[in-house]
Amino acid sequence: MGRELPAAQASELRAPRHVGIIMDGNGRWAKRRGGIRTQGHLEGLAAAKRVVKAASDMGIQYLTLYVFSTENWKRAVSEVGFIMGLVRQYLRAEMDFCRGNRIRVRHAGDSSGLPADIAGDIASTVRDTESFDGMQVILALNYGGRDEIARAVRRLAAKGAKMEALGEADIASCLDNPDVPDPDLIIRSAGEYRTSNFLLWEGAYAELFVSPKLWPDWTGADLAEAIAEYRNRERRFGSVAGE
Ligand code: IPE
Ligand code: IPE
Ligand code: MG
Repeated sequence: MGRELPAAQASELRAPRHVGIIMDGNGRWAKRRGGIRTQGHLEGLAAAKRVVKAASDMGIQYLTLYVFSTENWKRAVSEVGFIMGLVRQYLRAEMDFCRGNRIRVRHAGDSSGLPADIAGDIASTVRDTESFDGMQVILALNYGGRDEIARAVRRLAAKGAKMEALGEADIASCLDNPDVPDPDLIIRSAGEYRTSNFLLWEGAYAELFVSPKLWPDWTGADLAEAIAEYRNRERRFGSVAGE
C-alpha cells in the first residue's frame, strides 16, 4: 500500500467532502453593536448565504448548517419566532438560487416538533431540489445529536430489529440522512469549544476548527481558511501515522 498518489489526486483526497458548521455568535454580534439579538440572526442569515455560495463554488459536496438545536427552544418565544420566520423566508426565497447552483436541500432533525407550515416548506423544498446534482445543503433544524440517535433506535424498534444484535451499522442506517458521508470537518464560529449536540454520531472523527469570528462576520474567505487548515491535518482514525 506504499504507492504514492499523483499530486492532484492526493490533494483532492485532502479536500473535505462534508463540512458541518455550528453558526454561533449572532446574539453577541448584535449586542456589540448595541442592537437586539434578532438583528444578529438577520445578519447571520446573510452570512449563511455567503458561505453556502462559497462552499458550492469550492466544490464541497455536503454542507450541514446547524440552524436551530433541540435545546434552542429554551430561548425567549420572540427570539424563537424570529428565527422560525427567517427559516420560512429562506426556504421560500432561495429556490432560484438552488436551481441556478444545482443545490439540493435536505433536513436533519425532528420535523414533527416544528411548526406545521415550516415542516411543510422543508418537505417541499427537499422534494423540489431532490434531482439537483450540485452541493447538498443539510439544514439541521430542531436537530440534536442525542435526539437523532434516540429516533434512530426507535425506527429500528418499529422495524422489529433484534435489539440484542444491534450494531453500529444498524444505527447508522437509521439516522436522518444515512447516505450522507460523515463530516470531515466541523467548524464552529464565535470561539466556543463545544459541540452543543451537533452531529454526535457522524462527527466521531471529524476534524474540528474553532474560529473566534462571530458568525455574522463570516465570509467565503473564512471558509477557505478553515479548509486550508484542514488540508494540513493528519487524520489517523485511531491508526498510527505513516503506516
Ligand atoms: C447562533 O447564534 C444562532 C442560533 C443558535 C440559533 P446565538 O444566538 O447562539 O448567538 P450567541 O451565542 O448568543 O452570541
Ligand atoms: C449551537 O449554538 C446551536 C446552533 C448554532 C444552532 P448555541 O448558542 O445554542 O450553543 P450553546 O448554548 O452556546 O452551547
Ligand atoms: Mg450561541
